[in-house]
Amino acid sequence: MKVIRDIKQMSLACQRLRRKGKSIGFVPTMGALHAGHLSLVKEAGRVNDIVVVSIFVNPMQFAPQEDFRRYPRPIKKDIALCRKSGVDFVFYPDAVAMYPEGFQTSVAVERLSRVLCGKSRPRHFRGVTTVVAKLFNVIQPEVAYFGQKDAQQAIIIQRMSADLNFPLRIKIMPTIREKDGLAISSRNIYLSRQERKEALVLSQSLDLAKGLIKNGIKDAHKIIAKMEQFIKSRKSASVDYISIVEAAGLKPVKKICGDCLIALAVWIGKTRLIDNAIIRNA
Ligand code: PAJ
Repeated sequence: MKVIRDIKQMSLACQRLRRKGKSIGFVPTMGALHAGHLSLVKEAGRVNDIVVVSIFVNPMQFAPQEDFRRYPRPIKKDIALCRKSGVDFVFYPDAVAMYPEGFQTSVAVERLSRVLCGKSRPRHFRGVTTVVAKLFNVIQPEVAYFGQKDAQQAIIIQRMSADLNFPLRIKIMPTIREKDGLAISSRNIYLSRQERKEALVLSQSLDLAKGLIKNGIKDAHKIIAKMEQFIKSRKSASVDYISIVEAAGLKPVKKICGDCLIALAVWIGKTRLIDNAIIRNA
């Protein structure tokens, strides 16, 4: 396994591999790797000749008041995990190389970036799409892997790739959860013991919604109100948003039908967590 920091060197290595006819599977990450990331790596390895993982805590997708500085960066552990997981290249650029002086271009997927998480994080997805577009240009993979855990991000990146004709496929993989249902996230380490217990409200409220839908309740408003009431019963939890939207276009629905996405963001103390569930063919 090679760890490459230089952008040009990474780009050349990928060009050489492509010329040899090797397919490249790419997993973009911000590091602090966990079982969720590793499930993407595993799938990339199953399908492609070469697996590239990028580790870059992207300053452009954090607002000034957010957790950019304290975001975990266990780079040694991450590299060891990549080696153990059969990764061929870790791309680990630094921020100055990615955003040199004079940098002023961004990629924005307009409407999809304004809803759900985009409401409380207005510039977040512009940062994500800009960095992912850059990474796609450096690596030029055949397939890039994203997690359902960040459903809106995955949909936005699919839209961007289609709109800008990136010659690659996007594969979205299921959310990996802890045994008790909590979606695994690099941010879970911020939680105190009590908060970790209360963080279960996210997945539990989604289960509650699924149960209501199974019992024939279709009114999105009603379902959201029940979820909110349930979440509010936990001391450290406060709702950022709960939305039920069309799974493809992220437009709000009044009645559950077709493929819907139930997405929520909840503050558990000072940590903002997200989760979602797809309801198919309701
Ligand atoms: P990061 O949060 O490190 O996540 C990297 C990838 O892992 C994303 O596609 C995310 O959806 C996926 N992932 C995270 N937790 C997961 C889980 N529990 N199950 C399955 N997949 C999971 O998302 C980002 O980084 C950044 O925004 C990035 C795309 C790298 C751009 O900077």
